[in-house]
Amino acid sequence: MTRKELIEAARAAARNAHAPYSRFGVGATLLMTDGSVVTGCNFENASYGLSLCAETVALAKANSEGRLRDVAEVAVIGGTITPEGLRGGSVVSPCGRCRQVLNEAAQLGGRDLPIHCASADGAHVESYRLSELLPHAFGPANLGM
Ligand code: THU
Repeated sequence: MTRKELIEAARAAARNAHAPYSRFGVGATLLMTDGSVVTGCNFENASYGLSLCAETVALAKANSEGRLRDVAEVAVIGGTITPEGLRGGSVVSPCGRCRQVLNEAAQLGGRDLPIHCASADGAHVESYRLSELLPHAFGPANLGM
């Protein structure tokens, strides 16, 4: 699957965002080693701090299928929710907590995950490796694993 297709799958997932408080929808796609995709969207809560990010939702889905170690690539998109779809010109990159959760999949699978960060208008995409977004990560190795 191409980077563009991964981003389009994330955009589609963002349509299911439950984000009535921020009105900011986020979608995430995980490309798995077998070529399949697992998607997620943000899931907000009236108790704001309990909200879940799109990336974490997607990773929890992969884990629930026994596939956390099979994540190969990640795409994220986000923007303001409007009747015409997501709007916004700046790229969305994973928040700090999501970077740490992504590191769990990266370490389990032994991959420095490519992370594609897209703007809602599709005009901007920035691709990074997780190690660039989360240098000197705390991970399983710190616990002797
Ligand atoms: N959000 C994500 O889903 N992923 C990120 O990496 C950044 C933020 C969500 C959380 C909240 O529902 C909304 O975006 C605004 O912060």
